[in-house]
Amino acid sequence: MTIVCRSFAKINLGLRIGAARADGFHELLTVYQTIALHDVIRVSVERGSGIEIKCSDPHVPGDDSNTCYRIVDRAMPVLGAKGRVVIEIDKRLPVQGGLGGASSNAIATLVGLERALRKKLGAAERLSIAAEVGSDLPLFLVGGTVLGVGRGEQVYPLPDLPPIHCVVLTPEIGVSTPKAFAEWDRRNVDAKLTASASSDRMKELGRGLSAWLSEPYSSAPSSFTGRGRAENPLLWLVRAGIENDFEQVVFPEYPELCEGKRALGHAGAKYASLSGSGSTLYGLFVSKAAAERAAVRLRKQGWAAQATVTLTRRSYWSRIFD
Ligand code: C5P
Repeated sequence: MTIVCRSFAKINLGLRIGAARADGFHELLTVYQTIALHDVIRVSVERGSGIEIKCSDPHVPGDDSNTCYRIVDRAMPVLGAKGRVVIEIDKRLPVQGGLGGASSNAIATLVGLERALRKKLGAAERLSIAAEVGSDLPLFLVGGTVLGVGRGEQVYPLPDLPPIHCVVLTPEIGVSTPKAFAEWDRRNVDAKLTASASSDRMKELGRGLSAWLSEPYSSAPSSFTGRGRAENPLLWLVRAGIENDFEQVVFPEYPELCEGKRALGHAGAKYASLSGSGSTLYGLFVSKAAAERAAVRLRKQGWAAQATVTLTRRSYWSRIFD
């Protein structure tokens, strides 16, 4: 039996990079948001042993460095299962694109594998295996609007934002995340930015997010006027002062991406940003019509632009298998 699953992408609604840690990772504070763009993963368990990856995209590794391979390799013994696991990846999301494609592929593989075997891991086991494979995997075990802390692998479901229409630009540039972090460190050393200064910047975003999340409950005027976070999520996001620190190191290296952010603004985005370390850029729009118009305009300008929508936790989980 072959299990077919959608493997959805994420964007980052703000990302602050904190201090480099002794283990080589960096402290992060980010809000992940799942979106409707996706790859398709097919998982089957056959007689025999081993793990086989099939993908027609030459940028996707077919060996044990593939995140799908790595998660199956860890999950099979914990599930107490035997067999040859065949994973077919129908790649539509950009590779090294900042949309978490490889991480999402691994989680879709894991949930597909559990269904194929009719066995389930415990929630804590799943999270721990996911975090071993990569910092961006656990968010896909939550879906919707997700707070990410630690190295990004500690994830907490946030109250879901209502669906927001967006346009995603996918320039043909692969950005290496480790290199972007290394460049961040180099610039901070040059700027003599101390660890406490970088932790202050994280606290600043933390306060912004906290105010953003609590305002609908704590602020009388906004609840009286009915213009709280749920009614106007875009305004609230902008007020929270969200930004993505990776822009500071990625834009100077790839000026085309800074132009993409500007183009999204000119096309009517209420908020535009790099996603993760890029190269994907996204813009948030007030309506589906506005996002679709902007995508048409941006494609005419030569950008690879797609209109899509954010996915709440419920729609993320209900659309994985249907
Ligand atoms: O966890 P993941 O495999 O995605 O990380 C890839 C690389 O990105 C790490 O080896 C590390 O160099 C860098 N990284 C980091 N801090 C994080 C996440 C990733 O420095 N919070």
